Amino acid sequence: MLFPYLTLMITLAQVICAKNILLTNDDSWVSTNIRATYRELTLAGHNVVLVAPVSQRSGYGGKFDIPKGNVLQTNGEFDYVKAGEPAWGHEVDDQNVWYFNGTPASCVAFALKYVLPKFFNNMTIDLVVSGPNEGTNMGQGFYTGLGTMGATYNSIYRGIPGVAFSGSNSNNSFFKDSLNTDPMNPSNIYASKVVEFVAQIFKSQGENPNALPITSGINVNFPPVGNQDTTCTDPEWVLTRMSGELSATFDMAYNETSNTFVWSPASYKALTVCENGDCSLPSANEVLTQNCRTAVSVFSIDYDAKLELANEVKALVQPILSI
Ligand SMILES: *[C@@H]1O[C@H](CO)[C@@H](O)[C@H](O)[C@H]1NC(C)=O
Ligand SMILES: *[C@@H]1O[C@H](CO)[C@@H](O)[C@H](O)[C@H]1NC(C)=O
Ligand SMILES: *[C@@H]1O[C@H](CO)[C@@H](O)[C@H](O)[C@H]1NC(C)=O
Repeated sequence: MLFPYLTLMITLAQVICAKNILLTNDDSWVSTNIRATYRELTLAGHNVVLVAPVSQRSGYGGKFDIPKGNVLQTNGEFDYVKAGEPAWGHEVDDQNVWYFNGTPASCVAFALKYVLPKFFNNMTIDLVVSGPNEGTNMGQGFYTGLGTMGATYNSIYRGIPGVAFSGSNSNNSFFKDSLNTDPMNPSNIYASKVVEFVAQIFKSQGENPNALPITSGINVNFPPVGNQDTTCTDPEWVLTRMSGELSATFDMAYNETSNTFVWSPASYKALTVCENGDCSLPSANEVLTQNCRTAVSVFSIDYDAKLELANEVKALVQPILSI
């Protein structure tokens, strides 16, 4: 009799901790990182609905693309969904795993306006998890520029807490090629760290209606792990800030010989200045240069400048202000 009783207790424990999670990303619904994370969050007992772009939408920031019509014009990522097929749909054998021909930000809206009301009895979402991205997302330039962040701040605008996760494994890999249970696979290590992180958020949430304060979100960046750095399989969490030392952004360089432009990251002074938050914290960029540490930066979607700064700028335009 002991065995069924234990099973019941485990099931009850899972039910008590179970939360409703919307999982998205920018690298597409078939990337290995998101599929490993879907598997692990589900195994941890959560109700996970994965809704992500049908194709790679890296670098789309908060862009809000809505498909024109209801048929795909081009093949999706890794040709998993083909041109001519519906512009949105789910895995044949899993109604919790969806694609949408949109951007990360519009995938959040598609989930809330279509998938959840129609197929999940309008289930409320406790947390949006975006990622883990294939590649890191650190600093202000990447905050506005990259889709992992775009999905996160789009959900925070709507009052749904969001956490962005980004990995240092930047290969755009197809889950049919790379999803496995190898404990040294970075996708698997990141997935289990995501489970650990959200478990702590929900534990701290207790009876509060919101998992995070209403305007805030978290940007988590993982270091190289497992196959990428065999000395690192369980990175520690370190609180960081978005701006600061080594903070970089998108830039381009002109190639005289080929008369073309190439993408090149660059750092500028304004990115390294700390105006808000705890300026004694290291920047996410700094922490990722140290061994086996994950950077955890807290951000706010209230972009208004802090008062001193706002007053300084106000003085400059004061003569033409009516109030
Ligand atoms: C689903 O829930 C949201 C928020 O709770 C509400 O605004 C919306 O009207 C609901 N939609 C349906 C179809 O019930
Ligand atoms: C990168 O991803 C592709 C597509 O899934 C895969 O075929 C390849 O093996 C991956 N490369 C590495 C180094 O992981
Ligand atoms: C500029 O373009 C030329 C010709 O395509 C190429 O050989 C060279 O490596 C490029 N230089 C840089 C700095 O990218």
